[in-house]
Amino acid sequence: MSEISTSRTGQPSRWSTLHVFLHWAVVAFIIVQWWTGHDVGRLLHAEERGRTVDTSEAVLAYTHVAFGVLVLLSMLTRLYDRYSHGRPPHPQDVPNWAHWLAKATHLLLYAVLIVMPLTGLAAFFGGIEPAEEVHETLWTVLLVLIVLHIVGAFVNHFHYKNDVLLRMMPWHQRRAET
Ligand code: HEM
Ligand code: HEM
Repeated sequence: MSEISTSRTGQPSRWSTLHVFLHWAVVAFIIVQWWTGHDVGRLLHAEERGRTVDTSEAVLAYTHVAFGVLVLLSMLTRLYDRYSHGRPPHPQDVPNWAHWLAKATHLLLYAVLIVMPLTGLAAFFGGIEPAEEVHETLWTVLLVLIVLHIVGAFVNHFHYKNDVLLRMMPWHQRRAET
């Protein structure tokens, strides 16, 4: 694997391969969470609602638990990678407010994607009801953040015409390594 060059400020010129891999892995995990969220709720409340859960529902419910833990581990690994290797410089051509909005969105995405698995675990294994409510509310917050984030990525690409979107793409990483 090639070295990542650093700028005058000591920042790397691109995201690490690990960071890019985990970014897109977490996107896939969140799609799984959206798909299986209903089943884990049914399993959790089956007894009190006097219903049984069939095998496929149970498999989907435990898939939710497993992929939720994967999200937590991925986000912690990304944080470690970001602080040990740094991140590429923020684009220079965007206004200050957009820069701070992007920073706040990223910070909140990290926070939500760490707190959601923790509240999920507390609700599922500890039966803690407020954790369950927070978990459900955070799902709505996460959807809003994701929309804002994707709009931001496209505004950078199509309006400011910088490389912010491209440098998060796996093929861009491979090209940089050759
Ligand atoms: C970042 C990771 C996670 C995401 C994005 C996520 C997402 C979701 C979604 C979309 C729902 C359905 C909410 C609704 O119907 O309004 C849900 C429900 C649930 N999740 Fe997660 N989840 C995550 C991690 C976990 C983990 C690790 C657990 C641990 C066991 C868990 C346990 C639950 C439970 C118990 C429910 C049912 C709540 C209810 O219906 O009362 N989640 N989750
Ligand atoms: C589930 C959906 C997504 C989540 C949770 C997510 C999360 C994140 C987070 C937390 C960061 C900040 C990385 C850091 O500062 O350490 C980031 C960066 C980035 N994401 Fe996403 N992302 C998602 C989907 C997408 C999509 C669909 C795109 C493309 C359209 C995208 C493009 C980017 C880009 C270009 C960056 C780098 C921004 C920069 O260089 O400042 N993301 N993402």
